[in-house]
Amino acid sequence: MPQFPLPPGSTLGILGGGQLGRMLALAAARLGFETAVLERDADSPAGQVATHTIVGGYDDPAALEALARLARVVTYEFENVPAASVLKLQALGVDVAPGAEALSVAQDRVAEKQFLNASGAPTVAFAFADSAAGAAAAAATMGAPLLMKTRREGYDGKGQRWVEHVADAAGAFEALGGRPVILEAPADFVRELSVIAARGRDGATAVYPLAENHHEHGILRRSLAPALVMPHIAFEAEKISARVLQGLNYVGVIGIELFEMRDGRLLVNEIAPRVHNSGHWTQDGCSVDQFEQHVRAVAGWPLGPTQPHARIEMLNLLGDEVDQWAKLAAEPDSRLHLYGKRDAKPGRKMGHVNKLRAL
Ligand SMILES: Nc1ncnc2c1ncn2[C@@H]1O[C@H](COP(=O)(O)OP(=O)(O)O)[C@@H](O)[C@H]1O
Ligand SMILES: [Mg+2]
Repeated sequence: MPQFPLPPGSTLGILGGGQLGRMLALAAARLGFETAVLERDADSPAGQVATHTIVGGYDDPAALEALARLARVVTYEFENVPAASVLKLQALGVDVAPGAEALSVAQDRVAEKQFLNASGAPTVAFAFADSAAGAAAAAATMGAPLLMKTRREGYDGKGQRWVEHVADAAGAFEALGGRPVILEAPADFVRELSVIAARGRDGATAVYPLAENHHEHGILRRSLAPALVMPHIAFEAEKISARVLQGLNYVGVIGIELFEMRDGRLLVNEIAPRVHNSGHWTQDGCSVDQFEQHVRAVAGWPLGPTQPHARIEMLNLLGDEVDQWAKLAAEPDSRLHLYGKRDAKPGRKMGHVNKLRAL
């Protein structure tokens, strides 16, 4: 097992070569680390800036062995890392952070909600089903409307269907591919918030101010942070963060998506055991951003401060919106972050811009 704190010059492994991996690699480089990215695609956003790229699948034993030869500490930029890959890396003496427990909880929406409720972090009411008949029965008990989601592998609103009438539940189950599903009561929220939090190897925690998030077609469009919230909401978010981080014996940065309910309660929607799109504002709103914070945590360094020094409006640049780069670059209050993706497919996250406002 590696010794902590990991000194500069050590190599940090990253599973996944997308924009989150890229921004993690950039933050790691600034602290003097080398990085090794494992990614299927030879030309990836993270691979372009990492010290080493290993081209291969996350479940490819030879690729995992190559990663373990380079890096004694490995993290990831997406939560669908196969559990067997984590076990394999651990068997090779690698420390994987966040750990297997956080991954298994975040990979299954039912396990996630069960964990949250048991930890004192409330969620919407839910049921689950493995068959069309089971989905119909669960919907009959819960009543409609409800939101049906695949238990595993959904992201950016994919793998979800609204069920307006109980009689539609069996059809929705089939339309989602006949896979195990969760059925969720509709959240009567005023707005969506999120909190980015971190826990170090010594158990210390750090929580950033809340962000207010706006989605379009299931994809994050815009975040405003720090969000203007009542003090009890900020307090509740910190309490939830502490419970989740401790309950998972967590190491690293976590993104916690929240619903601010009409009745004043705060419910957890889902957790992401990684840096999160709604935390990109910290790059230009805080002295230590979520990427550096994550590197610090997994490397066993002290966590950095989380106080904001600016209010940020973060806008995702989706598809050909990235063509506005020259105009955005000319705006004095806009900081541009581009991901190096070659192909601007519709809806694809190509970059983001942080617009600076006075606090
Ligand atoms: N139970 C719910 N009630 C109302 N809206 C929901 C509910 N669950 C999710 N949503 C909406 O759908 C979006 C995507 O759902 P989420 O569970 O976060 O999936 P994803 O993994 O795709 O981000 C949320 O940000 C929210 O706008
Ligand atoms: Mg979400």
